[in-house]
Amino acid sequence: MIDSFDTAAEMAARLEPEEPVYCLRPHVISATARRFVTGFPGDVLYAVKCNDNPIVLQAIHDGGVRHFDTASVAEVAEIAGHFPEQTSHYMHPVKSQRSIEEAYFHYGVRSFAVDHPDELEKLLEVTGGRDLTVVVRVQTPRNMAVFDLGGKFGASVEEAAELLRAASAPDRRLGLTFHVGSQCLNPDAYRRAIKLAGRVLRLARVPIDILDVGGGFPVAYAGVDVPPLEDFFAAIDETATGIRLPEGCRLLCEPGRSMVAEGCSIVVRVTLRRSDSLYLNDGIYGGLSDLTFNGIDMPMRVIRAIGGKPRPAADPDNLAAFRLFGPTCDSGDKLPRPYLLDAGVADGDWIEIGQAGAYSNVLATRFNGFQSARTVLVRDDAFRPGPADRHDRQTRQAAE
Ligand SMILES: Cc1ncc(COP(=O)(O)O)c(C=O)c1O
Repeated sequence: MIDSFDTAAEMAARLEPEEPVYCLRPHVISATARRFVTGFPGDVLYAVKCNDNPIVLQAIHDGGVRHFDTASVAEVAEIAGHFPEQTSHYMHPVKSQRSIEEAYFHYGVRSFAVDHPDELEKLLEVTGGRDLTVVVRVQTPRNMAVFDLGGKFGASVEEAAELLRAASAPDRRLGLTFHVGSQCLNPDAYRRAIKLAGRVLRLARVPIDILDVGGGFPVAYAGVDVPPLEDFFAAIDETATGIRLPEGCRLLCEPGRSMVAEGCSIVVRVTLRRSDSLYLNDGIYGGLSDLTFNGIDMPMRVIRAIGGKPRPAADPDNLAAFRLFGPTCDSGDKLPRPYLLDAGVADGDWIEIGQAGAYSNVLATRFNGFQSARTVLVRDDAFRPGPADRHDRQTRQAAE
């Protein structure tokens, strides 16, 4: 039975945790999943790689998501274990023969991404080519998001058209997909990518059954203005209508980050304060690696230690800039930017870091033996950036 608390502060007071604690808010995740399911003009697949905690998966399912974007047989197996009646789509464009075989024959996966003729040949050979959806991934222009994903995968427009033609067969479904990059701040990126897909279709002259617009939907991290998800949905709907998709072609999307980021905060502990440096029990080899990227700043608040010397509660008006270091012996284990925190923060205090549900626990390593973390449920609302975080960003920029 997993422990459950009203707030992260209550959790810290009751458990006084030595290890980082993931505070999951399944109600927040389910609400975001419902927003996707009701607002997106097609089917919503959750990108399992982003956070595969079983509670997270269940919350997404509770929010109405019934399809899953998987990148490995292990993820396919995970989804089959949790939701035997649901569909996995194997959307990694590069797969081993064995993993295709297992996904197709053992787990009943029918939808696979490809971006190269040899991968298509492998897929057709291993599966026999029947009862199959072949989804061709096309490369999108770079610099449309905080994280470019186009450098590694994706066929050019001409190659994608050729792949579609090569994959076309009477008993086969065809699709096109792309990924604009993770944390994409502008709906125009989807407009441009869908128009690119339109060019592929005009060249290929074969009908498709699926246009999968991938993931990349943004989170309103500290200091960034992002348009509401609904603006992205409207841009996708409108542009897809504009390129005149074949009759019956369905739209799909594969959100990861935007689905889960706000549904989890991480509570880390201050092991040592040395002037304006704080040494924490979590860092870039743990759940905080996303914070090393420009444009990803999460809100933070101090939770004062309970057991030690009594001290006043954290003062939101008395803030100072701190450099944050992780627990390992690697001197690179630090956050690249200072953060504004309660000036009185001391050894033994905790810091709650909001919007930390995406690419956190799944990227944590056991480097230096710091692998242990705990997960609890928390009932309050998501910890999102407030006006102070905006100010925080400016102050930090000045301090950098
Ligand atoms: C194929 C694919 N789909 C979806 C996602 C999820 O992207 P995001 O977390 O930006 O929504 C990724 C992320 O790497 C991906 O590679």
